[in-house]
Amino acid sequence: MRILLVVSGSVAAYKALELVRLLRRDGAEVMAVLTAGGARFVTKEALAAITGQRVHDDLWAAEAEIGHIRLARWPDLVAVVPASADLLAKMAQGLTDDLATCVLLATRAKVLVAPAMNPAMWEHPATRANVALLAARGVVVAGPDDGPMAEPESGPGRLLEPAALRDAIRAALAAGPLAGRHVLVTSGPTHEAIDPVRYIANRSSGKQGHAIAGALAALGARVTLVSGPVAQPDPPGVAVVRVESARDMLAACEAALPADAAVFAAAVADWRVAREASQKMKKVAGTVPPPLDLALNPDILATIAAHAVRPRLVVGFAAETEEVVANALAKRTRKGCDWVVANDVSGDVMGGAENAVHLVTEAGVEDWPRMAKQEVARRLAARIAEALA
Ligand code: C5P
Repeated sequence: MRILLVVSGSVAAYKALELVRLLRRDGAEVMAVLTAGGARFVTKEALAAITGQRVHDDLWAAEAEIGHIRLARWPDLVAVVPASADLLAKMAQGLTDDLATCVLLATRAKVLVAPAMNPAMWEHPATRANVALLAARGVVVAGPDDGPMAEPESGPGRLLEPAALRDAIRAALAAGPLAGRHVLVTSGPTHEAIDPVRYIANRSSGKQGHAIAGALAALGARVTLVSGPVAQPDPPGVAVVRVESARDMLAACEAALPADAAVFAAAVADWRVAREASQKMKKVAGTVPPPLDLALNPDILATIAAHAVRPRLVVGFAAETEEVVANALAKRTRKGCDWVVANDVSGDVMGGAENAVHLVTEAGVEDWPRMAKQEVARRLAARIAEALA
């Protein structure tokens, strides 16, 4: 694989060096284009040493040597790491005032951008609009992460870590076994409003569902992830639809159809508050607390499994604290799904990093050993790829 790495101006540019190392370890050839801003943070010499290639940083010098068109035609993928707000804006507008922007306009290769900037710049409507435009044109947007910045503040805008960037590049390049397939995944809890400020929720972190969405994308699937409120970063290369309530989640799932497969990993609230108060409920001294009448939520899994445009493979989850396998077997029939991934949530599974699951299919029950949720995700994605092949 040939990867042209465009390094633009951000304090996070040092991570691009580690990324090159990981990509080359995977056998990729990497060439770098350094913008004037990027050169403020990493040197041409460092990039040349780590790519083992000449670094291009000047439009006119490059014209004499290789030319921006040849440079644009060389790679399988152009990765802009880090992508500054300025470079994203230029890409959105099609400006070409240096070598990086000329190459980005001239290339027909897949383009991935990994934004890195201050949270206020990332959240500015101008940046939001530029990124939305680029994504609509097929540019893969990897990250950013939410977390501490170089400045003493925290928020969305951190460049993804090198390993996550490597995974995002792999996913973007993957003509994997799920290329051309669309998979719907639900993840996280739902929030069921009591009044404008209060809600009912559960302890689901979204770790497992998000990992599954990422693993499916890494195999080349187009993935729609319908997620309840979680603190997880968006998995690279996945289209995320954020919802709050079970009813919103069902509507988003129906809107995402048709899909070749669907994985329902969300911990959907079984009940919502029957009558959501339109104003904040008041505590009145000397009176009894108000009762909370509950109403049954729609069953998203069962609804999609019985849908007129049913995905070919429907996978449900069963979070149980007792009789895990027996309940999963019953759930498979009751919900009309093809597979059930059953896990015992009596321990530290919810919110934890590991999971021990049983996969219930038409062929029987498989007991998987305890492993990282990421690994459960990879194995399940591989099985889904086999089933759809
Ligand atoms: O009925 P139970 O909650 O045990 O079933 C779990 C499975 O059903 C999970 O796959 C979950 O995502 C899904 N589910 C759903 N909608 C609900 C309740 C559960 O999709 N309202």
